[in-house]
Amino acid sequence: MSAIAPEVNVYVGPGEIGQSLRQDVASGLQNTPKRLKPKWFYDDRGSRLFDEITRLPEYYLTRREREILYSESAAIARLTCADTLVELGSGTSEKTLLILDAINQRGTLQRYVPFDVSEATLRTAADEIAERYPGVGIHAVVGDFSRHLEHIPKGGRRLVAFLGNTIGNLHPGERLEFLRTVRSTLTEGDWLLLGTDLAKDKERLEAAYDDAAGVTAEFNLNILSVLSRELDANFDLEGFDHVARYDERQEWIEVLLRSRYEQTVDICALGLNVHFAAGETMQTEISAKFRRETVERELGGAGFAMEHWWTDSRGDFALSLSRPR
Ligand code: SAH
Ligand code: TRP
Repeated sequence: MSAIAPEVNVYVGPGEIGQSLRQDVASGLQNTPKRLKPKWFYDDRGSRLFDEITRLPEYYLTRREREILYSESAAIARLTCADTLVELGSGTSEKTLLILDAINQRGTLQRYVPFDVSEATLRTAADEIAERYPGVGIHAVVGDFSRHLEHIPKGGRRLVAFLGNTIGNLHPGERLEFLRTVRSTLTEGDWLLLGTDLAKDKERLEAAYDDAAGVTAEFNLNILSVLSRELDANFDLEGFDHVARYDERQEWIEVLLRSRYEQTVDICALGLNVHFAAGETMQTEISAKFRRETVERELGGAGFAMEHWWTDSRGDFALSLSRPR
């Protein structure tokens, strides 16, 4: 059997990106405190840097989640009887191969639907997977999972995977809305596989988001390069420090950029001059850390019944499998 060429549907093209980037930056930088939306991290360079993060000694998340997938993928394939794997925020789809292999071994794999905002990364991953699984349909969606979930193709027995603690990058309110929307696109017989990082000691968490080699700092600062390029802005990357701190009350990591001195940045495409005080911080990301009860409760509130919960041998990370109820 030969590879079927991937079908790619694009819902966030260059024009669209321009418009929503403008809106996000205009409102985020005029807000107090300043903030930026994390989806803007992932241009080509950002996606490559994130891939590097997943291999850092301090960034345990990817290795722990892969460990769980190694031991549980066969069970996941058997329990769900899935023929279609939909993956939100699929990135390089590296860990996904474990799930695809397990479904394929049961002989039921018909379709893979990777869904990501980063078009180049998505196309590369889709081509690689088409080669690896001849006869399997690849239907890639370039979209924003907070806006375009209705474009997930219907039909089949679908397993929707959302891995890597990307759910933790949404604020609690957005999380509930997101899960409800996912729920509304699913029907009886479909499943949700969710990867969540678990609450643990502050030192390990902060190291995972502020590695010794400085890759995470580069990733964080890259968002300023995206703004400079796309919005004709003059951010000086030397003028900001990368900061990651664990908020023990909220149980989330806050990723910030801190202005090293007082400065004004011109965002020419928006006709905006943005003032930063010395030491002023701008939030670029949160990464929430979870407990079993909160995951189960949030899923329940969105109309899911959590049926399985697996953690790695050290209890660092969890995968849960839920279905509409
Ligand atoms: N699933 C992979 C990648 C996680 S990084 C893993 O577990 O390692 C988060 C991924 O989500 C990136 O590939 C990024 O491009 C994508 N992403 C971030 N925000 C998004 C959004 N709003 N809509 C769609 N994809 C998004
Ligand atoms: N989903 C990843 C996480 O929450 C995203 C991420 C990892 C990230 N490292 C980062 C985002 C550093 C911003 C900065 O772990």
